[in-house]
Order: sequence, then C-alpha cells, then structure tokens
Amino acid sequence: MNPSCHIKAIVAISENSVIGKNGDLPWKISEDLKWFKKITLGHTLLMGRKTWESLPGALPRRENWVLSSTIKSKPEIKVFKKLGDALEAAYDRTLFIIGGGELYRQTLSICSELYVSEVHRVIEDGDAFFPPFRNDFKVSEKLFHNEEFSLKKWIRVPS
Ligand SMILES: NC(=O)c1ccc[n+]([C@@H]2O[C@H](COP(=O)([O-])OP(=O)(O)OC[C@H]3O[C@@H](n4cnc5c(N)ncnc54)[C@H](OP(=O)(O)O)[C@@H]3O)[C@@H](O)[C@H]2O)c1
Repeated sequence: MNPSCHIKAIVAISENSVIGKNGDLPWKISEDLKWFKKITLGHTLLMGRKTWESLPGALPRRENWVLSSTIKSKPEIKVFKKLGDALEAAYDRTLFIIGGGELYRQTLSICSELYVSEVHRVIEDGDAFFPPFRNDFKVSEKLFHNEEFSLKKWIRVPS
C-alpha cells in the first residue's frame, strides 16, 4: 500500500452493531443515503462482492471497485482478487471502504477516518456486523442528527 493513500470507511450501524440482514440494509433512510452520496461523490469506493450484489448498479460519479475471487471486472466495476492489489492500485487517492461486514473487518485497522451513522434502532436477526471501533477512534465532528440516526465523523486516536 502506498503510505499516502488515505483510507476511510463509511457505514450505518444499529445500536447493536448490525449493518445488514438477508443481503440488504435492515432499513431505508433516505436522508442517510443523501449523506452517503455527498461524502463519497468523486471518490473511489471499495466494496465486498456481496455488497456489490445488493446494489441496483454502479454508484454514479464514483469509481466502483469490488473485492471478489469469483466475479470479473466489467465496464462499470473494477474487480480485485486481493485486498492488497486494491490498496496498491489506490496509490495516493482517497479510498472509501463502503462495506460490508467482511470488508470492514479486514480494513478497520488501516482506516484513518470513519463516517458512522448510528441508527437509533435495535435490529434482531442481523447477519452482518461492524467491528468494535470506539476504543481506537474518537468523534471529530457531529455532522447530522435527527430522530432516525446520528452521523458523526471519527478519527483514529494516535496509539
Ligand atoms: N449498513 C451499512 O452501512 C452497510 C454497508 C455495506 C453493506 N451492508 C450490508 O452488509 C451485508 C454484506 O456484508 P457481508 O459481510 O455479508 O459481505 P461483503 O463484505 O459485502 O462481501 C463479502 C465478499 O467479498 C469478497 N471478499 C471479501 N474479502 C475479500 C478478500 N480479502 N479477497 C477477495 N475477496 C474478498 C468475497 O467475495 P467472493 O465470494 O466473490 O470471493 C466475499 O464473499 C449486506 O447485508 C449489505 O446490505 C451494510
């Protein structure tokens, strides 16, 4: 990985750390999707194959990169077979990790910033989770709050 590559993750999590259920988001919160778009526009996104398959298609005005050992690149997505290859290709650009659980788990330790939407719900029977992060990051900005969710930017605490 190039040391100047800036890696950030963006995620929406429930109060019990659930991010997904049955291959999809456990909620539909349009305001949160607007924030996702605003924060990620113009950047390169890296996602796991299952997250890619949960989307209606490539996210416009962003480079869509997918990590997978089973699917191939096509015009709208660039597929990497190994995480290291994607990080190498990112070179000095900002790379947004956009999920899902498997990919967050593998990349949290190299993320410098997190954009976390805390959804004010407990989700039963979730099957994808965000790893524990609160000991390694601190809140740097409170970006938005309403009845449904609170969006905060977290930055890594120097170790
Ligand atoms: N709440 C949120 O913010 C949020 C965000 C994104 C996703 N989600 C949810 O999360 C769920 C999906 O998460 P998930 O953990 O099940 O799957 P995922 O992380 O999206 O995808 C897992 C797949 O990615 C590929 N992969 C992961 N690491 C790899 C590596 N090191 N090398 C090569 N390939 C690798 C593999 O694909 P192959 O099997 O093809 O090799 C693996 O099966 C869905 O419910 C989705 O809606 C929620």
